[in-house]
Amino acid sequence: MPEAWDVECDVLPGMEAILARELRRCFRGRVGQLADTGRASLRFAYQGPLSDLIGLRTAHAAYLGLAFSGRRPTALLGNQNLRALLERIQVIRQLHPPGTLCTFRFGAAGRDTSTFRRLATELEAQSGLRHDPDDGELLIRIRPNGRPDDGWEALLRLSPRPLSTRAWRVANYPGALNATIAAAMIDLTQPRPDDRFINLMCGSATLLVERLLLCRTAEALGVDISGEALDAARANLAAAGVARSARLMESDAVLTGLDMARYTVLCADLPYGNLVGSHRENSVLYPMLMEEAARMAAPGARFAVITHEIRLFDATLDDARKLWQPERTFRVFQGGQRPQVYLLRRK
Ligand SMILES: C[S@@+](CC[C@H](N)C(=O)[O-])C[C@H]1O[C@@H](n2cnc3c(N)ncnc32)[C@H](O)[C@@H]1O
Repeated sequence: MPEAWDVECDVLPGMEAILARELRRCFRGRVGQLADTGRASLRFAYQGPLSDLIGLRTAHAAYLGLAFSGRRPTALLGNQNLRALLERIQVIRQLHPPGTLCTFRFGAAGRDTSTFRRLATELEAQSGLRHDPDDGELLIRIRPNGRPDDGWEALLRLSPRPLSTRAWRVANYPGALNATIAAAMIDLTQPRPDDRFINLMCGSATLLVERLLLCRTAEALGVDISGEALDAARANLAAAGVARSARLMESDAVLTGLDMARYTVLCADLPYGNLVGSHRENSVLYPMLMEEAARMAAPGARFAVITHEIRLFDATLDDARKLWQPERTFRVFQGGQRPQVYLLRRK
């Protein structure tokens, strides 16, 4: 029987159920019961290659857990605990090409205290990693386990960067969508290889890239009014290795001239009205967009939309109720904002 790892995955608050679905779908029979920690993360026993967890698309980060008892974090220096910690560090280093993880840092309350300095010195001596408190590649979070037994836990991040930091994002575009939210929206549309997919107002193509990395399409198109956005989209699509599967079009999304009833899946990250666009512009834009989207959507098409202008979008949907049937919504916390995701179906 292979070893079961104690794993914790962070998500953006609001996306716990979506991550749970991804875990069950990708690792059926390999994940134990998924416990919601109440801290925007899921904890579970996992049997299988840890490298597979690095491929999760809706998790913010994945960690290997190590529980230990004692009154202070220095209990980690006890023989047995230290051996278990070093073993996990080794396992994580082996997930990456040599030289990827050479430094470590702590994420912990009181990480500047003498307790953590001692821990750092000992770990440097035993692991061969250098302690870099600001930029250490291997993040080791240490915290009380929050249970009545007064124990502690170390959480070692499996990847040098959060999973939400995608390697394909070579062009940063103001207002770009968090890739884990994009992956969740794509998941909602239940992708199929025969989809004709359109990303309206695609910006730097976060949704388009996440869609193409997940599954083939019969057709994939990104539309944006800004040439600068499309330059960023082109760079990201190329870095993701999917440039040949997508077409980009510089156009007003409400006046595309594209075929009627052509697209089976639509996605849009609408201008929120603060960083991108304005509320006044949006009150004209949103209704026009919903009509144009309905014109190009095939009967039964799925449309995943995200917006921060929830009241305006709800009113727009109410007016467009003959065209679009809302099927699901979820709300996510992200960097001080609380946008809402909608899954709509073309009537
Ligand atoms: C919130 S940003 C999208 C960001 C994108 N999801 C990304 O990850 O980079 C909204 C985009 O809508 C585009 N846009 C605004 N009004 C538009 C219109 N009428 N037609 C097409 N694109 C428009 C902007 O140029 C901007 O790129």
